Amino acid sequence: MVKNLSMSNVNHKLFSEAKRYIVGGVNSPVRSFKAVGGAPVFVKKASGSKFLGEDGKTYIDYCMSWGALLLGHSHPEVISGVKQAVEKGTSYGAATRAETEFAKIITKAIPSCELARLVSSGTEAAMSAIRVARGYTRKNKIIKFKECYHGHSDYFLSGKSAGIPENISQDVLNLDYNNLEQVEEALGRDKDIACVIVEPIAANTGLILPLKSFLESLRKLTLKHKALLIFDEVITGFRFCFGGVQNIFGIIPDLTCLGKIIGGGFPLACFGGKKEIMRHLAPLGSVYQAGTLSGNPVAVNAGLKTLEIIKRPDFYKRLNERAGSFYERIDGIIENKKANAVLNRFGTMFNFSFKDKKRFSGFFHNLLARGIYFSPAGDEVCFISATHTDKDFEITLKALNHLKERLA
Ligand SMILES: Cc1ncc(COP(=O)(O)O)c(C=O)c1O
Repeated sequence: MVKNLSMSNVNHKLFSEAKRYIVGGVNSPVRSFKAVGGAPVFVKKASGSKFLGEDGKTYIDYCMSWGALLLGHSHPEVISGVKQAVEKGTSYGAATRAETEFAKIITKAIPSCELARLVSSGTEAAMSAIRVARGYTRKNKIIKFKECYHGHSDYFLSGKSAGIPENISQDVLNLDYNNLEQVEEALGRDKDIACVIVEPIAANTGLILPLKSFLESLRKLTLKHKALLIFDEVITGFRFCFGGVQNIFGIIPDLTCLGKIIGGGFPLACFGGKKEIMRHLAPLGSVYQAGTLSGNPVAVNAGLKTLEIIKRPDFYKRLNERAGSFYERIDGIIENKKANAVLNRFGTMFNFSFKDKKRFSGFFHNLLARGIYFSPAGDEVCFISATHTDKDFEITLKALNHLKERLA
């Protein structure tokens, strides 16, 4: 690990102070740098592809609020939309036209979402989607995959966290991603399965692409066994095209969860699906779900602005192409240096996977010392935004080239 004392001192000091008042010094565990060691960088402000740390250093940010910022930090149009919204009030707890407008755009972009419900986090979206699935099918169990993350609600953390009631684990079947035999066997054996929930690209345990037949067969098998198929597109939604990755793969799930990008950096998420299913949700149906700040006007306006910008012609084409050229050059570096690493990628999301996983923390800190901020855990993916410049890429490639011995 490269040590720059003056730099790390500020962060260490701020981290110690934070730990006196906030559990572990952070409000979401992975921010603590537990996976990579050292003190987390405290952020002062951010713009475009970069943020300024409290340590006085500027970092090229490839974490991008964990994928929430497709337009980079503080996009001027988003900020001005937010300013306009905030002057009209911060929360009404009552209906607004902006929510209808927002849901209209989502349902048009993702045809499988005929009706939507807005919530405030991806966790809420996924938690509520499985509740609707249970209410609709009148079955209890869920199938999920070990490599996927769907937020921190009890069902999804069963077996992974203390404090989850033991009996919940009986209702959760944790299978291996891309393993169809396991799904077929489970659905054939157990008639109480309400849904299969899956990340259509698994982006929480490194980056795992689905086998071609995997998602197609999940669709067929769930239909056969009268279970719902839920795509958790909290990461993949609106990342590669104006819609879900389901639009690209051509698979129509029953329910979809969205978050991150659609909120333009604000706490906004949503889930949606076929009318016939979504109608089971209160106030139309008996499945209860609610939120004081759901559809918050400031967040919805940030989301609307974001969607307006990313819908512009060629937005995704250009972005995905630029990311592609960047990856090719990284591949070149990995090859030249005969590094024991692979760059997994899809569109604007990528992850370095090392043969020896322990190498990630040294790699991460060496880049950090050169002003490049990757997501601070080897299992997390990195994100490219529309504001990453060619110069940012050049600086990153140069730094990667320098790290030759660390990569090998
Ligand atoms: C696929 C997926 N689903 C759900 C969530 C939970 O979203 P949130 O952190 O907004 O609760 C995440 C968060 O990273 C995610 O990656």
